Amino acid sequence: MILVYPGSFDPVTNGHLDIIERAACICDKLIVAVGNNESKRPAFTVEERVEMIRESIGERENIEVTSFTGLLADFAKKVGARAVIKGLRAMSDFEYEFQMALLNKKLEPELETLFMMTSVQYSFLSSSAVKEIARNGGCIDGLVPDCIKDRIEGKLTCR
Ligand code: COA
Repeated sequence: MILVYPGSFDPVTNGHLDIIERAACICDKLIVAVGNNESKRPAFTVEERVEMIRESIGERENIEVTSFTGLLADFAKKVGARAVIKGLRAMSDFEYEFQMALLNKKLEPELETLFMMTSVQYSFLSSSAVKEIARNGGCIDGLVPDCIKDRIEGKLTCR
């Protein structure tokens, strides 16, 4: 079974990696798909976001990292995914994710959305929080993979 894990990943955090690692264990192939949420103004380009995820997970036989434009439902159908998987951090994520799941189901009735609870140590984490801390010179150790920490700090602190 192919699963798609979509997100903005601006940038990828240890919370996302937690979901990636666990989701990859329950499917044959996990496609991590960087999309653009038009309402957000990303700090990193799509290419940079894809690169950072690839660098963080290394070579993995059943994980592919790519990007997409347009509707998630269309992308999922194109790549033959049975379901979309999303992480849930708290009840506050639920309403938005529920709406997205229903919209995607309306667009592509055979596409399921699965939710995986984020591990408790990452339940407070978001990409925006990481960016805000980095922009203000705070410490992002433990929040993002070590291998991309300098890149994030370099980009955000020299603005
Ligand atoms: N650990 C840490 N943070 C997490 C997390 C986890 N496990 N799970 C979610 N988050 C955070 C993200 O960091 C992000 O934080 P931010 O808001 O500070 O950036 C936030 O939760 C939500 O991000 P994400 O899950 O990436 O969703 P998104 O709202 O940015 O949506 C797409 C991104 C690509 C999934 C969405 O825009 C999309 O589907 N686009 C295609 C168009 C479409 O089909 N729309 C639906 C029909 S209208």
